[in-house]
Amino acid sequence: MQKVGIGIIGCGNISGAYLKAMASFPILDIKGVADMNAEMAKAKAEEFNVAARSVEDLLRDPEIEIIVNLTIPKAHVEVGLRALDAGKHTYSEKPLGINFAEGKRLAEAAKAKKLRIGAAPDTFLGGGHQTARTLIDQRVLGTPVGGTATFMCPGHERWHPNPAFYYEVGGGPMLDMGPYYITDLVNLFGPVAKVAGFAFSPRTERVITSEPRNGEKIPVHVATHVAGALAFQNGAIVQVGMSFDVAGHRHVPLELYGTEGTLLVPDPNHFGGEVQLLKKGGEFEIQELSSPYADGNYRSIGVADMAHAIRSNRQHRANGDLALHVLEVMEAFQTASDTGTTVSITTVVDRPAPLAASLVDGRIGQ
Ligand SMILES: NC(=O)c1ccc[n+]([C@@H]2O[C@H](COP(=O)([O-])OP(=O)(O)OC[C@H]3O[C@@H](n4cnc5c(N)ncnc54)[C@H](O)[C@@H]3O)[C@@H](O)[C@H]2O)c1
Repeated sequence: MQKVGIGIIGCGNISGAYLKAMASFPILDIKGVADMNAEMAKAKAEEFNVAARSVEDLLRDPEIEIIVNLTIPKAHVEVGLRALDAGKHTYSEKPLGINFAEGKRLAEAAKAKKLRIGAAPDTFLGGGHQTARTLIDQRVLGTPVGGTATFMCPGHERWHPNPAFYYEVGGGPMLDMGPYYITDLVNLFGPVAKVAGFAFSPRTERVITSEPRNGEKIPVHVATHVAGALAFQNGAIVQVGMSFDVAGHRHVPLELYGTEGTLLVPDPNHFGGEVQLLKKGGEFEIQELSSPYADGNYRSIGVADMAHAIRSNRQHRANGDLALHVLEVMEAFQTASDTGTTVSITTVVDRPAPLAASLVDGRIGQ
């Protein structure tokens, strides 16, 4: 299959994971990397033996078909719109935008130009989550009932070298970690119909404890503790807790209930992990994984799937409709909290197609 030219914009913390994983997808042809800070691009280019170029130069290159946007959340839509204007498909890190209105603008621009948008997370394509998907599609849970989705930690200022964006609008635990959990829930249970939620910030500033900004104070502009519930169109009700204010806890990341059983889904921020199933009356049993891409960090598999989809003229899995639905759902927690009401979700999305169990590792195809 003819390779697809890729240009990467944003060469910070996560770009190394992409550049490393992209090497395992032969369809991806990296034509260069760029950053508003040329030094960042130069450093990644040297490390991964690719070309450091300017943003403008990437956007002008006719051999580049997809711009992979690894900038910070508040730049996602601005950079995405520039890519679309330049006639490129665009795939962005999560969240799609810092609010639903902005995400919609990007989606509408893509539709008008007949170009694709894609977005992280793509971890739901990992072997752990695809195995859970297969089990649910085999109806091992019976009628879906509910579940819990939990991400709680003391905050990213402990490890990220430049963590201020996590506390700006577009950050916070819901927009930062929610995409992994809610995207996987849509993969497993389908679209969300309604959201109930509460959100607040116990602190107005945080102190960085990572290097090189150790000791620096950063202001908090978002809710850092969010709790609520999702009512899915399939009837299930899932409790959600996302926090940057919890010292420690003992919840599993994701568990799902049906009338006939309970499924423990591995951490949606990773590709693999243990899938456990309890059938009514029995005990939890570890399930053999039925899908590949479980043994490492395959961040960029969503880009590879999009590249194959472009060549074979099918829908890609980590697509803009899915990301926009997830963004609307995430924003609804804050709206529900502000208004004291439940919020009906307006976007409807199909579950992304499961990955065929017969896929050969490194050659994602149909
Ligand atoms: N760090 C992680 O572990 C991690 C994991 C998964 C996803 N992400 C997501 O990846 C994205 C990037 O995160 P990061 O941790 O790499 O951030 P970062 O701050 O380390 O890097 C972002 C880079 O983008 C560049 N940039 C910002 N605005 C730009 C613009 N308008 N044009 C060109 N370059 C621009 C910055 O100069 C910086 O080098 C975020 O959306 C984040 O949520 C990060």
